Amino acid sequence: MSTLEHLLDGNKAWAENIKKSDPDFFEKLSEIQSPEYLWIGCSDSRITPSSSIGLLPGEMFVHRNVANLVNHTDMNCLSVMQFAVEALKVKHIIVCGHYACGGVKAAFDDSRFGLIDNWLRHVQDIMHKYRSVLDAQESYDDKLDKLCEISVIEQVTSVGETTIVQDAWSRGQQIEVHGWIYTIADGIYRDLKVSVKSLEELDAMRNKTFERSMTSTK
Ligand code: CO
Repeated sequence: MSTLEHLLDGNKAWAENIKKSDPDFFEKLSEIQSPEYLWIGCSDSRITPSSSIGLLPGEMFVHRNVANLVNHTDMNCLSVMQFAVEALKVKHIIVCGHYACGGVKAAFDDSRFGLIDNWLRHVQDIMHKYRSVLDAQESYDDKLDKLCEISVIEQVTSVGETTIVQDAWSRGQQIEVHGWIYTIADGIYRDLKVSVKSLEELDAMRNKTFERSMTSTK
């Protein structure tokens, strides 16, 4: 007997519950996948992307990694993005970070956890780039919150700078990239208001990033 029997039981109850409100739900789902959204978020176990924004299975394509980073050498993230944009034709890419992110905190504290330190080096690069913005924050918590926000904004820029999104924009495909941040303490997502849907908007946003990052949205 599986030691994870309780999870399989939970799954049966979940599927039954969905079938009660829509008997053909899974049958329809198995025939087509056409999500409008791609989510790029943190792996944090306290965040449940689809259900926490009221979406059903099939409505959002999801990529998650520690600290929700978008790097131009990460074939995993880029492959997800390419498939989402070119095959699924998603209309929105949401980069979502969160306050109290363990990955961002580890980077900020320069903690040592092993291999992952190399991944989080990207957050440290952002931290050094925005050193003066972070220094202007009063408390340790404020600095950390600000770094969480700035990192999301930087990832929105990274998404917009990929060949995948730039090529899509240049062939007239509509894609909007958004930056959100989640507060675990109240379960609410906040829009960082850095959405871009063209190369021009990306350039304008990039120019405003420094100024914008001086103002906390929390
Ligand atoms: Co996190």
